[in-house]
Amino acid sequence: MKLNLLSLATLFVASVNSKIFFQEDFSSEDSLSRWVKSESRKDIGEIKLTPGEWSADEKNSIGLTLSEDARFYAYSAPLDSPMSLKDNDLVLQFTVKYQQNIDCGGAYIKLLPPTADPKAFNGDSPYSIMFGPDVCGADSKVHAIINHNDKNNEMIKKPLALKDQLTHQYTLVIKKDKTYEIRLDNSILRNGTIAEDWSIFPPKEISDPSETKPADWDDRKTIPDVTDVKPENYDDIPKQIVDPKAEKPSDWDDDMDGDWEAPLIDNPDYKGEWKQKQIDNPDYKGEWAAKLIPNPDYTEENFLEQSVGFIGIDVWTVKSGTIFDNIILTNDFEEASAFGNKTWADYVQKEIDIKKKIDEEEKIKREEEESIRKKQAEKAQKEEEEMAKLEHVEMPEPANDEKDLELEDELKPEAVNAEAKKEAKEEAKEEAKEEAKEEAKEEAKEAKKETKEHVKEEKEAEKDEL
Ligand SMILES: *[C@@H]1O[C@H](CO)[C@@H](O)[C@H](O)[C@H]1NC(C)=O
Ligand SMILES: *[C@@H]1O[C@H](CO)[C@@H](O)[C@H](O)[C@H]1NC(C)=O
Repeated sequence: MKLNLLSLATLFVASVNSKIFFQEDFSSEDSLSRWVKSESRKDIGEIKLTPGEWSADEKNSIGLTLSEDARFYAYSAPLDSPMSLKDNDLVLQFTVKYQQNIDCGGAYIKLLPPTADPKAFNGDSPYSIMFGPDVCGADSKVHAIINHNDKNNEMIKKPLALKDQLTHQYTLVIKKDKTYEIRLDNSILRNGTIAEDWSIFPPKEISDPSETKPADWDDRKTIPDVTDVKPENYDDIPKQIVDPKAEKPSDWDDDMDGDWEAPLIDNPDYKGEWKQKQIDNPDYKGEWAAKLIPNPDYTEENFLEQSVGFIGIDVWTVKSGTIFDNIILTNDFEEASAFGNKTWADYVQKEIDIKKKIDEEEKIKREEEESIRKKQAEKAQKEEEEMAKLEHVEMPEPANDEKDLELEDELKPEAVNAEAKKEAKEEAKEEAKEEAKEEAKEEAKEAKKETKEHVKEEKEAEKDEL
């Protein structure tokens, strides 16, 4: 009843052409059943429905989760009906949660043709669009690749992806007027024209081929300075001269050693070959360039005329845990916006709050552990110092003393008693020290193992990238 004319009009316009070709929020238990696992290789990782280790809402947060470490994933799901990109604006939107604190892994979606074979789907399969985040080490980007005349074209300047552990919503809009928008969490990350931000079309302007450089065009930046003349006798200055300081050695025997000659040294007056000075050319006209004219061969034909039959996920990840969710492919931004608001926007703040709480709890736990470790280390250190002191005092005793001690043993029981006590005390200390050492060793081993695994994974990822 409260609808005014304007919103009625928008409703009408939206409902005429608006169509959803694919929509999936993974809320149904069998929602993975329409995703076909590729058989293009044997080691494709398993996907699972999970809300992640922590979530804003157990049910709503459930999504398609990459569940195995260091794996390729190649899955696709058919659209409800094929989408002709020739006749429709393209709106592809989905959320990605790198819950695992991503080190290296893609989270993008490919739009596959209706002729695609899901069982053969792999990295080489043709697609019309590839869109979404991709992170590896310090390198983080949002791909927006458009296939044009069988060539995949990356954006000239790719936007950065977010690497935090929250759920982020990525939206790609490509309109029939060849403008585009990339949104991250509802805000425009990039927008503009396809012609400017991808090298898809030929250059709009070219140098006029009918123009030639005029004969009198002076493009010498500098010219010789005619006032600069070569000094007289300049060429007579020798490069080397006889060392004036050299003297004939007193034991030099002309008969035996031959005539003495003083050694040569570099002449300080020698300035090299004479060169005339250069000065700025007052007639310099700059580099010549032909006038730019509109490129007669410019064309934007064939742009995104493919059809889409499948949504494809074809990525590699080192650490598992990436969650894809809330996927929608439509020709109407309003549809995607409404879907995004329902599935993602309403949960964002809750997720941020929960993540903050978890982070704080983990921080407290870490600090407590750190403090315990520090105390243990201090204790071990102190014990070691005391040990060192004791060793110092009692140190070098000749081996023979043992016999003497045995003698003393019988003679002075009290002394031996004290000795035994001391020994027991030392033994206990030694034990404590050994324990602390063992613990530290174990910890170091664990850390080393973790690092080694990580390095191995990184290497594998690198290999894969190559
Ligand atoms: C990009 O977005 C800005 C801000 O919304 C808008 O002013 C501009 O017209 C957009 N550019 C294109 C090419 O759509
Ligand atoms: C979704 O939410 C945003 C932000 O509140 C709002 O601007 C937009 O109109 C909403 N979309 C729809 C279709 O209601």
